[in-house]
Amino acid sequence: MANDDSILKMSGIDIRFPGVHALDNVDFTLRRGEIHSLMGENGAGKSTLIKILTGVYRKDGGTMTLNGEEIHPASPLEARQLGINSVYQEVNLCDNLTVAENIYAGRQKTRAGKIDWKYIKTGAEEALRRLNINIDVTRLLGSYSVAVKQMIAIARAVNMNSIVLILDEPTSSLDRPEVEQLFTTVRKLRDEGLSVIFISHFLDQVYELCDRVTVLRNGKRIGEYVLKDLPKLDLISYMVGKDFSSLEKRDKSRRNKAENEVLLEAKNLGKRHLVAPFNLVIRKGETLGLAGLLGSGRTEAANLLFGIDEADSGELLIENRKHSFKRPGDAIKELIAFCPEDRKKYGIIPELSVRENIILVMQAKNGIARFISRQKQEEIAKRYIEMLNIVTPSAEIPVGNLSGGNQQKVILARWLVTKPELLILDEPTRGIDVHAKAEIMNLAMKLCDEGMSLVFISSELEEVIRCSDRIAVMRDRKKIAEVPGEDMSEEKILKTIASAEA
Ligand SMILES: Nc1ncnc2c1ncn2[C@@H]1O[C@H](COP(=O)(O)OP(=O)(O)OP(=O)(O)O)[C@@H](O)[C@H]1O
Ligand SMILES: [Mg+2]
Repeated sequence: MANDDSILKMSGIDIRFPGVHALDNVDFTLRRGEIHSLMGENGAGKSTLIKILTGVYRKDGGTMTLNGEEIHPASPLEARQLGINSVYQEVNLCDNLTVAENIYAGRQKTRAGKIDWKYIKTGAEEALRRLNINIDVTRLLGSYSVAVKQMIAIARAVNMNSIVLILDEPTSSLDRPEVEQLFTTVRKLRDEGLSVIFISHFLDQVYELCDRVTVLRNGKRIGEYVLKDLPKLDLISYMVGKDFSSLEKRDKSRRNKAENEVLLEAKNLGKRHLVAPFNLVIRKGETLGLAGLLGSGRTEAANLLFGIDEADSGELLIENRKHSFKRPGDAIKELIAFCPEDRKKYGIIPELSVRENIILVMQAKNGIARFISRQKQEEIAKRYIEMLNIVTPSAEIPVGNLSGGNQQKVILARWLVTKPELLILDEPTRGIDVHAKAEIMNLAMKLCDEGMSLVFISSELEEVIRCSDRIAVMRDRKKIAEVPGEDMSEEKILKTIASAEA
């Protein structure tokens, strides 16, 4: 058979959750030394397939063989012992342990009953060096950025016995140089004979890195393809299963919004060690993009506008009235909403239902004295589930059961419910599939046309340009320039970022 080099075979995999046939008779073959992508829209079943392979979920039907032998991993630990290692979409590391402890958590080496710290430290350093990362492994994990945490999770996953390495959206929080670094490492591991499963919603990255792709849609396998022979548009239509007119670019007939009333003005607003004092004007109905590399101060600037951090210089005017935000509650009172970058840290409460997560901020704003009736809650949840196309069997299941992209949409819904005057979206489309992404951005822009203002932060320049009326460029925690609508192009923005380096 042509598939002689297959190392892992999953056949007829089946699993149901209440109300969802999450995987319906799915076949998947992984070859030795290849990088294989799993693609599909939010909720297609990608993470579920991986969780079955890694012993997190028990399948209802089907078989799996590794190197020709049937396997039945009943826990991630058993999977790891078989050589199947994974890094999940949601990084599960502990902020209050050191980097080294995180790398060795759960498999600490002991010598005469004592934990061998020296071994752990050197081992951790070595594991990171393999990924070309040089950091102090004795520092607490919490002191590093999301991007670095992601790399640490990968270092934790890869060891000498690995046969299969699974990366479920590993790059969603990495910027370009870090992606580059990761890809170099993954290619090296592949060339050493490791087989890699790579899940990502970034089409370009999939084409850049992977050899083959298996497409899932609604829990079914659509097919397996060699990427170099597969036109992008074909891949998208396999994933979406229909024509995708919503992907068409928004026509660039931006209205001139320079005349619109000013909603918010920051004058020399800043905070030491966080972001240098900056001036910023946001008009009603306008989308202001914040561009810059990861760590350039985009999120930090947004944090000041939302009171997550308190400014120590300058002032903030909203409709010409002075404000100083000490906490997010102050900003929320002024009808500002903030959809954060890290949905797990600031956003989702996994054990609460989809409905409860959606009405959370609204209820908090009302205060406990004015309880929103159950019926009203259900109406609101239903409306937003439809509006954002959130895939869930009902509004009453824990939000933690939803696929990653759909959780992201729940957070967005939670803020839209409060009918904000200014919505700050920090990497709103991370982990969201191409189709849903277009829908979300179209919705946001429609709300702007109705008078809402939007601050839009994204690492994907093309996306920032497409959606914004004007772009503020950040670098090294400073606002370095503003690029007006008519001048916005990737080249112009990149040049602006680079020029400040001198
Ligand atoms: N523990 C669970 N309980 C109930 N339903 C679940 C559970 N885990 C997954 N599901 C459902 O199974 C389906 C597939 O989800 P899965 O997480 O595999 O999607 P995905 O392809 O990884 O999507 P995304 O791109 O958004 O991460 C979804 O409808 C999801 O709600
Ligand atoms: Mg997933």
